[in-house]
Amino acid sequence: MAESRTSGRVLVCRVEDLPDGEAVRVPAEEAGTEDAVAVFNDGGRLFALNDTCTHARASLSDGWVQDGHVECPLHGGAFCLRTGEAVGAPASADATTHGVEVHEGAIYLLPRP
Ligand code: FES
Repeated sequence: MAESRTSGRVLVCRVEDLPDGEAVRVPAEEAGTEDAVAVFNDGGRLFALNDTCTHARASLSDGWVQDGHVECPLHGGAFCLRTGEAVGAPASADATTHGVEVHEGAIYLLPRP
C-alpha cells in the first residue's frame, strides 16, 4: 500500500462498505479524473481502474471480480486489476489504473502523478 498522503486524495468509502468481490463507482467529478473510476476489492486487495470499458463503454464497476481480473458485464471482456491490461476479448485496449490506499479504515483514490 502506498504511503498515506494528506492532500489530493479522494475519499471513496469505508473499508467495510466495499466487500470482497464488489466494486464501487466514483463519478469523474468526484474523482477529479476524465472518466469515472471503479474501485475493486479482490480478496481484500484493492485496485482502481477507469470505470468505462475500453471496448464499448460499459461500466466495469458492474462487472465480476475474480482472481485479479474484472470481467465486463456487457460482452465479457476482461482486464487485469493490477495493470489494467486487457486480457480477455473482445476488449483489446488496456484500462487506465489509479492508485488506491487505506488510511484509518477509509479507502482513498490517490491523485495521478
Ligand atoms: Fe466491455 Fe464490450 S463493453 S467488453
